[in-house]
Amino acid sequence: MGLLDGKVAVITGAGRGIGRSEALLLASEGASVVVNDVGAAVSGEASEERPAEEVVNEIKAAGGNAAANFDDITSWKGGESLIQQAVDTFGGLDILVNNAGILRDRMSFNMDEADWDAVINVHLKGHFVPSRFAGAYWRAKSKETGQPVNAAIINTSSEAGLFGNAGQLNYGAAKAGIAAMTIILARELERFGVRSNAIAPRARTRMTEFLMGSVGAADDEKAGFDAWAPENTAALVAWLASDLSKDVSGQVFIITGGLVQVTQGWNPVNKATSDKPWTIDAIEGVRDQLFKGVDSGVPPFQF
Ligand SMILES: NC(=O)c1ccc[n+]([C@@H]2O[C@H](COP(=O)([O-])OP(=O)(O)OC[C@H]3O[C@@H](n4cnc5c(N)ncnc54)[C@H](O)[C@@H]3O)[C@@H](O)[C@H]2O)c1
Repeated sequence: MGLLDGKVAVITGAGRGIGRSEALLLASEGASVVVNDVGAAVSGEASEERPAEEVVNEIKAAGGNAAANFDDITSWKGGESLIQQAVDTFGGLDILVNNAGILRDRMSFNMDEADWDAVINVHLKGHFVPSRFAGAYWRAKSKETGQPVNAAIINTSSEAGLFGNAGQLNYGAAKAGIAAMTIILARELERFGVRSNAIAPRARTRMTEFLMGSVGAADDEKAGFDAWAPENTAALVAWLASDLSKDVSGQVFIITGGLVQVTQGWNPVNKATSDKPWTIDAIEGVRDQLFKGVDSGVPPFQF
């Protein structure tokens, strides 16, 4: 018996890296998986590669159920047909893992319009579009049966967005947006029995191998295993997709190697009040109160 027997999952960008390892684990736990991937280059350019097909073959060879999908999740029609394929092929949808991503790192002052648009499009719109059609499917199903649907969305954020990494303005803004989207989806879909959570993974994939050298090797040595293997992040996604996490929603996790963390962001830390409209002088007057115990300079990047 698998933990996800009878469930149907869609995973975007599952032809490689983190998404691939999630697809393999979910399928090995009994889920039927629609493996979506356009086969793009790291920077998003189209290519002739069809990695989704390879992952489907791997799953089938191991005795699992899977179907390939090549839709571009940034397109309205692509997102709609991806969700429809799960329903038509496997009879429904229980799990949506939004994972597809690209990278075009530049300092903000060197970034051009195309770098901004492409990254915002794949991450932010690429999370929204499949969620939109999955949400509509679950809402209709819940209304039809009068029951909550017991479904899960798992989004893919990043520490680059949660903590704000220099050189990744487009990517970080999108990933912070995905963390916000995760909480908003959790609030909107709760009434239909859908939970929504996000992971901020850290793994050695083609997206990060240029960073890996010393950091990855040091972490591997400390952990005593391949701490940066993309497979390390998949267990959390399988747990979030399963009924074991039925009471978990609106949460953003960091997962890497042997470390998993729950995060909470944008909580007020200090306050000042006034019984009159604020003036510039009054703001200056409460400066010490606002920054009590808190550094007023640029926050350090917590990696
Ligand atoms: N690797 C890390 O350390 C790390 C850290 C933080 C966040 N992430 C996030 O994890 C996710 C997976 O990244 P990865 O490291 O496995 O990268 P990867 O490049 O190995 O895999 C991403 C996949 O997404 C696919 N893709 C790109 N655009 C697409 C589109 N429009 N429609 C469908 N598929 C598309 C690509 O073809 C590729 O196979 C991304 O969202 C990434 O931002 C990764």
